[in-house]
Amino acid sequence: MNDDSNPRPIRPASGRLGVLLPGLGAVASTLIAGVMKTRMTGETPIGSVSQTAHIRLGTREEGRNPLIREFVPLAELDDLVFGGWDPLSPNALEAARTADVMSEQDLAPLSSELEGVVAMDAVFDQRWVSRIDGVRVKSETEMADQAEALMADIERFRTENDCDRLVMVWCASTEAYQEPSDVHRSIDAFEAGLKANDANISPSQIYAYAALMSGVPLANGAPNLTLDLPCMVELAEREGVPIAGKDFKTGQTLMKTLISPGLKARMLGVRGWYSTNILGNRDGMVLDAPENFQTKESSKLGVLDTILQPDVYPELYGDIEHKVRIDYYPPRGDDKEGWDNIDIFGWLGYPMQVKINFLCRDSILAAPIVLDLALFMDLAARAGESGIQEWLSFYFKAPQSGPAGPEHDIFIQQTKLKNTLREWMGEQPVTHSEAG
Ligand SMILES: NC(=O)c1ccc[n+]([C@@H]2O[C@H](COP(=O)([O-])OP(=O)(O)OC[C@H]3O[C@@H](n4cnc5c(N)ncnc54)[C@H](O)[C@@H]3O)[C@@H](O)[C@H]2O)c1
Repeated sequence: MNDDSNPRPIRPASGRLGVLLPGLGAVASTLIAGVMKTRMTGETPIGSVSQTAHIRLGTREEGRNPLIREFVPLAELDDLVFGGWDPLSPNALEAARTADVMSEQDLAPLSSELEGVVAMDAVFDQRWVSRIDGVRVKSETEMADQAEALMADIERFRTENDCDRLVMVWCASTEAYQEPSDVHRSIDAFEAGLKANDANISPSQIYAYAALMSGVPLANGAPNLTLDLPCMVELAEREGVPIAGKDFKTGQTLMKTLISPGLKARMLGVRGWYSTNILGNRDGMVLDAPENFQTKESSKLGVLDTILQPDVYPELYGDIEHKVRIDYYPPRGDDKEGWDNIDIFGWLGYPMQVKINFLCRDSILAAPIVLDLALFMDLAARAGESGIQEWLSFYFKAPQSGPAGPEHDIFIQQTKLKNTLREWMGEQPVTHSEAG
């Protein structure tokens, strides 16, 4: 450890950590079943940076390279307890079977434990997710009462499960597109809106309000604006609660943020990037509604501009045709297939093409992200952090950021994440300079 840097005081991760998931669908059930399977078999939780990645400390000659989970005080997988809300799924077992991501052979040994994760009734409004007809929905009709009911759920869960701490990760459906409105301007305006049942307040905002008022850190896995709204940023800061969002970075956008920094590093130009997907799960069905797809589209489109910096490199990236399509195609279920056609150009402007055909499993890519977010958000809270956690940009398609704007390049995001952990633990950031 360096003499000139002091580690931050971080409260120990003692006791149980409750992981609350609005939306017990494909992603949430794959996370819960995956954690239970890992606990049972001791297998490696592949894809989870918090569990499997190492972090270099000091210079390379020092040879210090511990696992992240041994370097920072994270909650243990054995200490996690799961809960959630859903208007359709009765419990995590049914959710996993409906999602059809994991095989029956994998689910069978976990079935009673999964069945024990019973969905609480959701705050749901079909105006925001037209393709779902919710049945397990709270009886309260006034928004202020719905927020109170969610806060009561949170407290009941905390007590019944003897939780030392809670975190929440939004894993529910993508809501219809909306622009921020007057009701989102401030906490006061939002609270008045709750009392007046303002039509601009969506269910995800009511969950966010309930979480933050209960002191529960919240990460947003969907492209909904929820946590970007000024009232939520203000509330997170006032209540001293960490927030992070939005939209898990999996599939095609993950590929985009892997490939585009490489093209830019080599100063190769890009004329066009056409991305299309077929997807047959419930998420795909919800996104088949144009108003819900619009929310997703706006979160996917920002990536290239920030990475390629067309304002700095107008000759290379000033005129890119960027298109993103998602088609709902039920036969594929959760096994998404994505195609990218990238029109690039090199020396003397000669054109070339890159084709990517990614056959991925959406929830298999997303589940470890939810695990990492739950563990890192809990760490952030214990480290005294509040408000936007930019260091977790690594996990998001449209990272929430401060005034300087988002960083999309996955390698810069990874450096930011690891350097933040190094700083908190009193280690020097790694700069990869000649001396380091
Ligand atoms: N899987 C991925 O790779 C990925 C990547 C980025 C973002 N996401 C987002 O994560 C979310 C979950 O994805 P999924 O594949 O699990 O979808 P899913 O449709 O399987 O699950 C979503 C669940 O949310 C429930 N829900 C809807 N409204 C709700 C509400 N108001 N309260 C509580 N529950 C509600 C639905 O009933 C459904 O069971 C979606 O918003 C999706 O866009 C997923």
